[in-house]
Amino acid sequence: MNKISVGITGIGSFVPEKIITNEDLSKIVDTNDEWIITRTGIRERRIADENTATSDLATEAGKRALLDAGIDASELDLIIVATATPDHAFPSTAAIVQKNIGASKAAAFDISVGCSGFVYAMVTGSTFITSGIYKKVMIIGAETLSKIVDWTDRNTCVLFGDGAGACILESCDESFGILSSELGSDGVNGEVLILPAGGSRMPSTEETVREKLNTIKMDGKEVFKFAVRVIEKSSLSVLDSAGLEIEDLDFLVPHQANTRIIDAAMKKLKLNKDKIHINLDKYGNMSAASIPVALDEAVRENRIKKGDNVLLIAFGAGLSWASTIIRWNKEAKNV
Ligand code: UT7
Repeated sequence: MNKISVGITGIGSFVPEKIITNEDLSKIVDTNDEWIITRTGIRERRIADENTATSDLATEAGKRALLDAGIDASELDLIIVATATPDHAFPSTAAIVQKNIGASKAAAFDISVGCSGFVYAMVTGSTFITSGIYKKVMIIGAETLSKIVDWTDRNTCVLFGDGAGACILESCDESFGILSSELGSDGVNGEVLILPAGGSRMPSTEETVREKLNTIKMDGKEVFKFAVRVIEKSSLSVLDSAGLEIEDLDFLVPHQANTRIIDAAMKKLKLNKDKIHINLDKYGNMSAASIPVALDEAVRENRIKKGDNVLLIAFGAGLSWASTIIRWNKEAKNV
């Protein structure tokens, strides 16, 4: 049997209209535009309205990816949604997307790996294709983090935003597609980034809500150090598995959490900034949605050409990390 290569044949993204600027936040908490820009690189973020859930953003992104791939939802075999902010504990957000787009024959499930989720979804989805089980898989990273942020905590509320990005995975020409991937987990240090209440360990009660335990708690400094370390380590590891050197890398789409994290990692890797896509200034940290939204933007801006070696690298809750190298198999096409 010939080896099956898997590539991205369609991509799309969607962010809510409402913009919250740093100036807006300075009216809610003790912060200012200068601190947020210099410490994080973020200028503004998109926020979903109260009637919009993660599946709504995911559905729009998914429809755009289908259009870009030129396929119908009825052809999909599988939908995977990576999210830390599902509509409900169950049913899965993927099942809601399945209903919304009319993907009647698709299996559907969510995965929960925080900000690393989209790359985990890509690796998971692609293995269903390489194993011959499925042919067309939709993967989505989607979040409404604004719903789980403590809007009185300046340490976290300035960082996050809402959005969704989706890709269609299909087999492609053998010399293109996913070349190598690495998934990682360090559960020992998981408590440095956690949503304490709302699960079986600490079900939601009036007290958990009063104590704001249903919102994101993060030791930013620990996550920062972890991120810089794993970006370098995992990038070198996937390059090595793909038989590539750092010089062979044409483009990098990192998880968008903090420009200082990206700068520090780039310095270690000796990578030029013109090979990196950063949109953190416009959207903040959209967790699982950050990489597919940035990738979609880069493709639409024609920053990625067919044949380019593109590295996606993510890190986040778990703690977790995930990286993959794709030899780009598709020309940019405006939807
Ligand atoms: O997606 C994966 C999950 N998250 C991440 O990757 C986040 C990783 N971490 C980070 O990006 C950074 O650690 C942060 C941006 C969260 C924080 O930056 P930092 O340079 O580590 O700042 P810090 O937490 O050490 O805080 C420095 C000071 C503190 O004041 P004192 O104690 O020195 O007086 C904070 O209270 O800055 C203060 N501070 C703020 N000041 C104004 C923290 N947040 C703010 C704020 N505005 N929004």
